Amino acid sequence: MATTPKSPLSFYSEPLLGVDLSELQGKLIVIEGPDAVGRSTQVARLRSWLEQQGHAVLDTGMARSALAGDGIQKAKEGNTLGPVTMTLFYATDFADRLENEILPALRAGFVVLTDRYIFSLMARAIARGEDRVWLEKLAGFALVPHAVYYLRAEVQDLVPRVVRGRGRFDFWESGMDMRFGPDMYDSFVRYQARLIKVLDRMARQYDFVAIDATQSPDAIFAELKRGIGKLFPKSRYVVKTAKPGKAAKSTAKTLKKAAAAKASSAKKKAAPKATGAANGQPIATEA
Ligand SMILES: Nc1ncnc2c1ncn2[C@@H]1O[C@H](COP(=O)(O)OP(=O)(O)OP(=O)(O)O)[C@@H](O)[C@H]1O
Ligand SMILES: [Mg+2]
Repeated sequence: MATTPKSPLSFYSEPLLGVDLSELQGKLIVIEGPDAVGRSTQVARLRSWLEQQGHAVLDTGMARSALAGDGIQKAKEGNTLGPVTMTLFYATDFADRLENEILPALRAGFVVLTDRYIFSLMARAIARGEDRVWLEKLAGFALVPHAVYYLRAEVQDLVPRVVRGRGRFDFWESGMDMRFGPDMYDSFVRYQARLIKVLDRMARQYDFVAIDATQSPDAIFAELKRGIGKLFPKSRYVVKTAKPGKAAKSTAKTLKKAAAAKASSAKKKAAPKATGAANGQPIATEA
């Protein structure tokens, strides 16, 4: 997958046969981020906001394809899915949604909002030691989105959201398959920290717009609306004009802030364990 700047709605590297890119009218907007960071919260808000503006919206996300979605859930219930098979399963899910949902929606002029994209697929595989170059080739048929918003938080910020949201840690989002140890909480912290590190690196490589996800849902939503509003003709939106390069500066600022927070938290004691939540049975709900 080429990482030099590419125009939206072109293929990263491998064109899909039979796809005429000039037919694509819509917008492709990606919300990325680690588990429980608040992606669904923002996608739901964005969807109704965009619909209120008169846009047709397709909202899609990982493991939701008609072809592979159920199969992925079943394979995960057994907790026996190996890393390569997992990657290929998710790539199949993505290919199915690209061909049968995303491309038709873009041809029809929809705004496609996607809760995670190939980046999460690649990050999970890289966190499990798979080859970056192989992954970039594998995901090369993906379309370059108009924008990738990266909801960024530290693991310590994710823990209360998992506990409040589901009340327990999930086998896969805790990376239990990586056998860091028997404690689900410890495993969650180690695995999610790895994922965040990989996503931070991708943020620079693939021009993510990083948003500080420790802000309130309202503040995050406001930032998303400001960015997404700019993708549409001004006459339809009241959008404050930003200086060129503002998004890039803001991403650098968010990543810098995160690095500083990390350095200071490393000095402090480890976060207290979430009581009870780590002791549940493995469940398989991670998308
Ligand atoms: N900005 C925020 N600040 C604090 N809590 C939040 C914020 N955004 C979402 N939450 C809460 O965090 C939990 C997880 O949110 P949400 O389901 O939107 O995340 P997600 O990224 O879609 O998670 P998953 O990886 O499980 O799909 C929910 O309880 C939600 O109310
Ligand atoms: Mg979600």
